[in-house]
Amino acid sequence: MGVAVSMENVSRTFSSSGGPVRALADISLDVESGSFVALVGQSGCGKSTLLRAITGLDTGYTGRLTVDGEPVTGVDSHRGIAFQEPRLFPWLSVEQNIGFGLRLPTKERNQRIAELIEMVELTGFERARPSQLSGGMAQRVAIARALAPRPRVLLLDEPFGALDAFTRARLQDALQDIWLREGVTAILVTHDIEEAVTLAQRVVVMTPRPGRIQQVLDIDLSYPRNRADPQVTEYRRMLLKAFHLDRSAAVPTQEIQ
Ligand SMILES: Nc1ncnc2c1ncn2[C@@H]1O[C@H](COP(=O)(O)OP(=O)(O)O)[C@@H](O)[C@H]1O
Ligand SMILES: [Mg+2]
Repeated sequence: MGVAVSMENVSRTFSSSGGPVRALADISLDVESGSFVALVGQSGCGKSTLLRAITGLDTGYTGRLTVDGEPVTGVDSHRGIAFQEPRLFPWLSVEQNIGFGLRLPTKERNQRIAELIEMVELTGFERARPSQLSGGMAQRVAIARALAPRPRVLLLDEPFGALDAFTRARLQDALQDIWLREGVTAILVTHDIEEAVTLAQRVVVMTPRPGRIQQVLDIDLSYPRNRADPQVTEYRRMLLKAFHLDRSAAVPTQEIQ
């Protein structure tokens, strides 16, 4: 398969009024082509900083960062990104938003847009404006827009973080199906442990100050995955342990009546 994204001692320090902030320290990680990796960690551990570096939005890092063997020096259409907020163009329709950065002859372009609209289940909403969409629908448009130019890497920064639990679960399932269908390398930033375990083949646990990789957990489960599967629950428990959030072994201090 080969390596899609390679990071070797990637570090990023920001200068701020309170002194330098070491957002990332010595991140080394290889992401296999076509794989699904999740970066998990509490707020401030450098997840967005790392994603911005991979996308090419921030080139102030040190160390080696390559995508398909090429150093990242700026944004390009091989890397698609979606954020927590959909960031759609309010004056454009759903299909215009999806096709915004798509440089293709008209026929192919229309075909690709139609395919994406079907994939994200927005048939019937082609001409709707963002203000007419629910949060979940708008996020589907944002993901379709990121996928439109068939990027080699899809980067997602807490894409479902602002959605209610039911919508989030449905969009996670949709993302799983999309990833299986498109064969794209996916890197998902999330602080939702269940989301990471349900979707990713590898979960990278990060810790803050400075942002480092604490642990990489391989999730050895086939797809399609089901969050209610006991094996998913078992991996979820392992991750909760990594974050010291598993209280099953704790001795109760007081019997509950
Ligand atoms: N442009 C910036 N200037 C100064 N500090 C920054 C900047 N971007 C991020 N940081 C700091 O770097 C650390 C990591 O931030 P971030 O990557 O956004 O974390 P996460 O996405 O995991 O919540 C935080 O301490 C944050 O305050
Ligand atoms: Mg972030």
